Amino acid sequence: MVRPVIETLEQNGITRVAFQRLNDPAVIPLWFGEGDMVTPAFIREAAKQALDDGQTFYAHTRGLPALRDAIKRYLDGLYGLDIDPDRISVPGSAMMGVTIAAQMAVTSGDRALIVSPHWPNIEITYRVTGADVDVVRQRETEAGWELTVPEIVAAVRPGTRSIFVNSPCNPTGWVMRRDAQEELLAFCRERDILLIADEVYHRTVFDGEHAPSFLEVARDDDPLVVVNGFSKAWAMTGWRVGWVVASPRLCTAWTALSECFNTGATVFAQTGGIAALEHGEETVRTLREQYRGGRAIVERCLAGLPLIDLRMPEGAFYAFPRVPGLRDSFALVQGILAEEDVGLAPGYAFGPGNESHFRLCFAQSHERLEEGLRRVVGYLERHANRLDRITEMT
Ligand SMILES: Cc1ncc(COP(=O)(O)O)c(C=O)c1O
Repeated sequence: MVRPVIETLEQNGITRVAFQRLNDPAVIPLWFGEGDMVTPAFIREAAKQALDDGQTFYAHTRGLPALRDAIKRYLDGLYGLDIDPDRISVPGSAMMGVTIAAQMAVTSGDRALIVSPHWPNIEITYRVTGADVDVVRQRETEAGWELTVPEIVAAVRPGTRSIFVNSPCNPTGWVMRRDAQEELLAFCRERDILLIADEVYHRTVFDGEHAPSFLEVARDDDPLVVVNGFSKAWAMTGWRVGWVVASPRLCTAWTALSECFNTGATVFAQTGGIAALEHGEETVRTLREQYRGGRAIVERCLAGLPLIDLRMPEGAFYAFPRVPGLRDSFALVQGILAEEDVGLAPGYAFGPGNESHFRLCFAQSHERLEEGLRRVVGYLERHANRLDRITEMT
């Protein structure tokens, strides 16, 4: 009755922890990818106005023309491009953008390659297609998280039809450089592999206004889908609106698939997106400053602690520390939740090789973040002589 691959799907490791104490005011939640700032009033007002104006009907499944134009203007301004708005579509979240792109690229018998550590939903969305998933993991070096294009290419196997890259990366904060983007795109072009570039953290970099984008090095007809959205840069996680830029040859298929998913993003929420793009630069900068402050708190509280091995992130708003000797990341975050009321995400959720890591989001307001980190450190110090023996049973 149910496809075997669906039956094998497990709850992702982040919600497995978080759903136990979701919305519990006693918990300092550092488990999800969001801060505690409500979407700015001018964006909320735009959506309210759209509702009052009667924007409650079906709209174009690939997005309101006014929003697609606004996205075009935004991207053109940010990267100095001239993008054809017909290449832009508006799925009901960046996540849905990845899902639709994955559906286009792979099916049973194909393989997908994910740059890892990776956000768990990405792997699930590929696996649901029936494809097999491989990962290529970034390395921890003295300089930070690193991965070269030859390493990615070496992980490509016969049957690899799609490669997924998320830069800036959730959870490591790794940022792919422009020359590496060019090199990888040339490889995908040559092999006709669909590259899905997830750039939802494009504005959260701690050096400059934006991370390098594949859009800056791509040709219009490249086998590339660049996925982005409003959730992170404009504090709009609950709105569920994203956007993608793809080659014209993918647009007809995008319309067909989008019809079957949600027939286009919620119309009045899209109107909020227009306001965000047209008047939201100050919001983007304010949020980035908030995240920069959060990053500094993480550095102050965690870097240099003998119990923790930490590479500071170049982008996004997560830290992904390693606890040397730890074997069971789920047990660690369960212990911290139970004893310290701090919510973290277990490393194992982000792919193989991450069992001694945990992820924390530093987008929260600074006082709560600092208190949360103080408690995490307290827990680690209390259990220092038995971190290798922490298991679910303890
Ligand atoms: C790498 C990555 N892609 C996509 C998303 C989801 O974005 P959206 O809220 O637009 O679905 C997230 C959210 O955490 C993410 O970390």
